Amino acid sequence: MSPVVNPRSAHFDAIADQWDGWDDLVALGKRLDAGLAGFGLGPGETVLDVGCGTGNLTLALARALGKDGRVVAVDISPRMIEVARAKVSDPRVTFHVAEAERLPLPKASCHRVVCFSVWPHFVDRDAVARELARVLRPGGQVHVWHLASRDTINAIHASAGEAVKDDILAPAADTAACLERAGLRAATVIDDAEGYLVTARSRPA
Ligand SMILES: C[S@@+](CC[C@H](N)C(=O)[O-])C[C@H]1O[C@@H](n2cnc3c(N)ncnc32)[C@H](O)[C@@H]1O
Repeated sequence: MSPVVNPRSAHFDAIADQWDGWDDLVALGKRLDAGLAGFGLGPGETVLDVGCGTGNLTLALARALGKDGRVVAVDISPRMIEVARAKVSDPRVTFHVAEAERLPLPKASCHRVVCFSVWPHFVDRDAVARELARVLRPGGQVHVWHLASRDTINAIHASAGEAVKDDILAPAADTAACLERAGLRAATVIDDAEGYLVTARSRPA
């Protein structure tokens, strides 16, 4: 039996070369830097960037971390990873073509996971939440983050093509409940006109 192919892989492959032309990358970088400053990253953390796309958050994470920090960036779209690799040449960063549901990482290997502009694209969010909980170290944190309101995100997806038209961002309270079912504890739940952030922590050691 052939494996089920996630149609989002081909969808994002097809738009990877145009993706960075649709945003003001300098302004986006500033917003990402400001948001990450509020997350309280430690300089030596290993941070997983899930659904890294063309690597804009990856670059911001590299700016936020110190020389011993590491960014592991994964995406289901091989072309997105190629574009990101061409843009980010930092020895602290590694890229993988991989699904959030099956991360190529050992248990308890990350201090932090950031899901930036990707959560609604996950088909089985409970399975992803369990996988994120598996790779988080004790006391680690996961952030599900968007820089626009839920209504805006859902309107964009509704007209973005067959593969993603039903990729609905649920109310933040539902996302927090999903992360809690995976054994994490929700700490921040924001869902307003400015954006969306759910932060949850794994149990300390
Ligand atoms: C809306 S884009 C955002 C990309 C990037 N985070 C950004 O903000 O520029 C969503 C990305 O998530 C990836 N993606 C979708 N489903 C995924 C999955 N199950 N596992 C890993 N990556 C996935 C897509 O290929 C795409 O690159």
